[in-house]
Amino acid sequence: MSKFWSPLVKSLVPYVPGEQPKMANLVKLNTNENPFGPSPKVIEAIQSELNDSLRLYPDPEGESLRQTIAGYHNVKPEQVFLGNGSDEVLAHIFYALFQHGQPVLFPDVTYSFYPVYCGLYNIEGKTVPLTDSFEINPEDYKQPNGGIIFPNPNAPTGRYLGLEHVEAILQANFERVVVVDEAYIDFGGESSIKLVDQYPNLLVCQTLSKARSLAGLRVGFAIGHPDLIDALNRVKDSFNSYPLDRLAQAGAKAAYEDEAWFQKSCNGVISERERVTEALEGLSFEVLPSKANFVFARHKEKSGDSLSKALREQGIIVRHFNKPRISEFLRITIGTPVQNDALITGLKTL
Ligand SMILES: Cc1ncc(COP(=O)(O)O)c(C=O)c1O
Repeated sequence: MSKFWSPLVKSLVPYVPGEQPKMANLVKLNTNENPFGPSPKVIEAIQSELNDSLRLYPDPEGESLRQTIAGYHNVKPEQVFLGNGSDEVLAHIFYALFQHGQPVLFPDVTYSFYPVYCGLYNIEGKTVPLTDSFEINPEDYKQPNGGIIFPNPNAPTGRYLGLEHVEAILQANFERVVVVDEAYIDFGGESSIKLVDQYPNLLVCQTLSKARSLAGLRVGFAIGHPDLIDALNRVKDSFNSYPLDRLAQAGAKAAYEDEAWFQKSCNGVISERERVTEALEGLSFEVLPSKANFVFARHKEKSGDSLSKALREQGIIVRHFNKPRISEFLRITIGTPVQNDALITGLKTL
C-alpha cells in the first residue's frame, strides 16, 4: 500500500494465477497446460517470423488470423475478436458488454477471474450456486441480470453443460449478453459457436492455451454477432491496439492449419483423462465427470489440503482451492502418461 495508489487500486483483489515453480523435474499438474506441446508447424511459423519485419508493428486487426479462425469455425471474419490470451478478451467483454445497475451472474464455483473483473470495472457480480452435483441449472439463470458468464466445461469442476441447456439460458435472456467461456471445449464438448448466428446475445470465448498447447503464446478470441465484436474493438482500441504480436499471429495461424496435430493432442488428453479417472476411483476418490483437460476429485477420507501438501513433497504439484464447497477437492491437470503414472504411484504411497 502506498500513498501514490489510486482508491481503486487500494480496493482491488487481484487474481492469483496457479504457481509456475522454478524447480526442475516437477510433475506439474496445476495450471491446465497441455503436456503434449504445440505443433512443430507452429514453431516453424514463429521461426520464419524472426526477421527484420519485427521492427514494424503487427497487424492491429490480425486480419489473416481472424480469417483462418473464421474459416475454421464457419463464421465471418467480422464475427471474430482476437486478444492477448482469453483473459484479455474476457476483461474487454466485462468492460464492453455487461450492464451496470443489475448484477452479472456466474456460478458460485467457477473461474476465479470473473469476480476480479467485476472489482476492476466496478460491476456488481452475483454468484448462482451450482447444484449439489456441481452442475449449472439453467432455471437459476432466469432472474434479472446485467449479463451472464460461465465456462463450458466449467472450471474447476470440469462438468459440461449440453447445448440444449445453453440455449435455455440464451432464450431466457434475449435482452442480455450471455458469454460462454469455452477454454476447455475441445476435450469432448460441443461448441456453442454453432448458435451464434441464431442468438445475437451470445458471445463464445476460446483460447489456444489448452487444446492447442500455446499457453505461452497468449492468444484467445471471441466469436459472436458483429455488433458485439464492434464493442470489443472499441475497448481494445482504447487500451492497446496491438494485443497480438507478429510471432503470436503467425504461430496461432499455423496451429489452426495443423488439424492432425490438434486431434491427436485432444485425443491423447481424453484417453489419459479416462485412465486417470479410473485409477483415482480405484483409490477411493470421487471424480466429477470431466470434459476438460483436468479432473476435479475428492478423497473419501483424506483432506484435499493434506493430499496436495503430501504430493508436493513428492514433487507433484496439483491445484487445491481453499474455498467454500470445494476445499476437499484437488484439481488435477491431465499430464503425459509418465506424469500421470507418477501421480497415481504417488497417491498409492499415501
Ligand atoms: C475458464 C477459463 N477461462 C479462461 C482462461 C484463460 O486462458 P488464457 O488467458 O490462457 O487464454 C482459463 C485459464 O486457465 C480458464 O480456466
